[in-house]
Amino acid sequence: MDNSVIKVKDLYKIYTIGTNKVRALNGVDFTIRRGEFCCIVGTSGSGKSTLLNMLAGLEKPTKGEVVIAGEHIEKKNESQLVQFRQEHVGFIFQSYNLMPNMDAIENVAMPLIFQGVGRKERKERAIEMLKLVGLSKYMDHRPGQMSGGQQQRVGIARALVVNPEIVFADEPTGNLDSRTTMEVLKLIQKISREKNQTMVMVTHDNNLASYGDRIIRISDGKIIKITDNAKRKKEEAAAKKAAETAKKNIWDEVEETGAGEAKKTKAEEAETKGTKAEEVKIEETKEIKAEEKKEDKKSVKEN
Ligand SMILES: Nc1ncnc2c1ncn2[C@@H]1O[C@H](COP(=O)(O)OP(=O)(O)OP(=O)(O)O)[C@@H](O)[C@H]1O
Ligand SMILES: [Mg+2]
Repeated sequence: MDNSVIKVKDLYKIYTIGTNKVRALNGVDFTIRRGEFCCIVGTSGSGKSTLLNMLAGLEKPTKGEVVIAGEHIEKKNESQLVQFRQEHVGFIFQSYNLMPNMDAIENVAMPLIFQGVGRKERKERAIEMLKLVGLSKYMDHRPGQMSGGQQQRVGIARALVVNPEIVFADEPTGNLDSRTTMEVLKLIQKISREKNQTMVMVTHDNNLASYGDRIIRISDGKIIKITDNAKRKKEEAAAKKAAETAKKNIWDEVEETGAGEAKKTKAEEAETKGTKAEEVKIEETKEIKAEEKKEDKKSVKEN
């Protein structure tokens, strides 16, 4: 079965400024599967936002195809695009884009107005969503009365309240400190996973990107690498869980029965297995870092 929800074929976006041509996207092809958490990563100016804007139909490509949920985005006119976005897509921005005069509930409920949802249900769904993002205590606060992380959560609740099939996020944690960044990232991941939503997140941060099921690395408007992380993450999680269970069982037994050296050795082996899973992750991060360095050197040379 074809499980893809986003298909991009031979995509180009060329901006012309005076006599200068900027190839913001220079021939891009990829597919994203339903339910996947996909990260598009690259340095500043590599074409990430341009790509996301093409996917969302916010800008027209110079050439190529964008097929989302079976529909050709590049062939739609403005009013068709507006309708398409309302039906299929949620956005999370770096700057939260909240309405300053509305409280959290009103902000979150807003996209439901465009869907024709009645007042009472709008409020109920907004409250439910705000609870989900941990803002029960801040429902009647306006954006100016909340911290950056809390405002970002309102932004997330607003993007997800319509239960979109696909969520696009452009540097959604760009304004947050590292701890809040991780909290917000895990929250986005958890909600989209529970609802089987497809998530496409743009970031310049390799560490954040490593949480994706699929990592699309872009440089100078071209894809230079696609990493399928889902299988590795599954294996890693299974190995870790198995090792932890084994470790617990054996140590329990060693303690209960005062069992001999052989069992102790087994228990220690199980612990090593657990750390192996961690080591794989560390190695991956090192690899990504090395690649980033290579890329940085390349762009310094070019500039
Ligand atoms: N409207 C525009 N007109 C002309 N050039 C543009 C336009 N938008 C983007 N570009 C150029 O296209 C290239 C890609 O820009 P894009 O905004 O996609 O980068 P990015 O990867 O999102 O960078 P950042 O991490 O800084 O947000 C850049 O060279 C940029 O200057
Ligand atoms: Mg950008």
